[in-house]
This record gives sequence, C-alpha cells and structure tokens, in this order.
Amino acid sequence: MGTFAQLQTEVFTYGVSAIFSGPPTPENIMRVEVRHLTTIESQPHVRYIGVSNDTSEQAPLLAIAKWVPYLVQQTPQQLDKTLVLPNPSSEKFELKQRLLMCRRDIMGNKPYFYLSILATRLECRRQGAGSMLIKWGTEKADELGLQCYVESNAEAQGVYERHGFTKAREELFLLGKYHESWQGKADRIIIMIREPSMERTTGQPNSC
Ligand SMILES: CC(C)(COP(=O)(O)OP(=O)(O)OC[C@H]1O[C@@H](n2cnc3c(N)ncnc32)[C@H](O)[C@@H]1OP(=O)(O)O)[C@@H](O)C(=O)NCCC(=O)NCCS
Repeated sequence: MGTFAQLQTEVFTYGVSAIFSGPPTPENIMRVEVRHLTTIESQPHVRYIGVSNDTSEQAPLLAIAKWVPYLVQQTPQQLDKTLVLPNPSSEKFELKQRLLMCRRDIMGNKPYFYLSILATRLECRRQGAGSMLIKWGTEKADELGLQCYVESNAEAQGVYERHGFTKAREELFLLGKYHESWQGKADRIIIMIREPSMERTTGQPNSC
C-alpha cells in the first residue's frame, strides 16, 4: 500500500484531489496509507488496484485506482449515514460534504460503481494504464448492468468520455482558503456518469 499512497500524493498536487490526498511527505504518505488500510479492513468490497510492469511484489506501481462498488440498493437510513462525516472542523469537511450531496442527489439509492481515485505516474501517461484501470470497473459494472460514477477534473474528462462517461453536472470549488498560492483560483469538478453496456475503447499499455 505504501506505493499506492506515494503515487497518489505525488500525482495530486492541485485542487480538490490534492486537498484530500495531502503532500507527498513521509508523514502524510503514512497517514494516507493507514487510511486506506482501515478502509480495506472495514469495507472489504472496496478495491484498490494498480498497474505495474512487473509481477514481483516490490515492483513500482505505474498507475492506481480505487473502485467502490455499491452493489445493493441503500435504505434512506444508510444514505443518511453517509452524510454524517467525521471531523466537521477539518478543512476537507465542506468539500467532502458537497461531493457527497451531489453523489446522493444524482445516484439516489441505486447500486453503482464509484471510481474514487485514478492516477498514472506522470512519465507513464498516454500508454493505456489509466484506461486499463477504468475498464476494470466499467466491465464489471456492465456485467451487472450498473452505472459508473466519477468526479473528474477538466484534464481527465476526455479520457472518461472515451470510456463512455458523460457529464452529469459541474461544480466549482474555490481554493483560496486551502492554500496561499491558490488565492483567486478554483477547481472545476465534472461529475460524470456512465451507462452500462456502452461501446468501450480498447488498448493495451506499452512498457514504461
Ligand atoms: C487521467 C489519467 C489517470 C490518465 O491516465 P493515462 O494512463 O495517461 O491514461 P491512458 O493512457 O489510458 O489514456 C490517456 C490518453 O492517452 C491515449 N493513449 C493511450 N494509449 C496510447 C498510446 N499507446 N499511444 C498514444 N496515446 C495513447 C489515450 O487515447 C488517451 O487519450 P485522450 O486523453 O485523448 O483520451 C492521468 O492523466 C493522470 O493521472 N492525471 C492526473 C490525475 C488525474 O487527473 N486523475 C483523474 C482524477 S478525476
């Protein structure tokens, strides 16, 4: 998991994703890693997956994804629970709550697949690794006839469109209060949905 958290914190350096991941310092990487391990223990249905050139355990990850399959319809009580977030004083609280409200508003209590994290190491991009990780979830969702949901940034929007996602909504997040150097800046989050069984793109990753 160390390399998953490391890649995540190294790739996300700006905007909402960076606020959630934090900087690639050893302390923060450890914190993110612990958070993921806790998730794996408490929510075994959540899938952390990666792409590597090598099958050895120590091989570095080139790309990572976190897919959360919600396979059963949730009750109103379960949905309400998702809105009770820990740490109301944390700077991430407001962002998380807004994103959750959007997800709840758009998806309701339907089952679906949520792509929560997707990142490819900068030097390994445009070789198909990200697509492999998207397809991992979209193919499973197709098999079950379920929709997929992702909160994209403007740069990744095209990649998701190639995989059949379409824009459902757009949300603007002002970043000034999160980082001194982000004064006057904003992050545009494009909420995208993919209907099941749409035509899919193909492609194998090259070596990196
Ligand atoms: C978005 C992201 C995950 C895509 O990862 P990736 O591994 O580069 O994805 P792919 O290689 O599958 O696809 C990227 C592009 O390369 C193209 N591509 C894929 N294989 C290729 C190849 N062999 N040769 C040339 N181009 C290729 C794809 O067609 C795609 O083009 P498009 O952008 O016009 O759709 C990556 O850019 C990233 O980590 N960005 C920063 C983090 C981020 O924004 N994450 C998403 C948060 S919502």
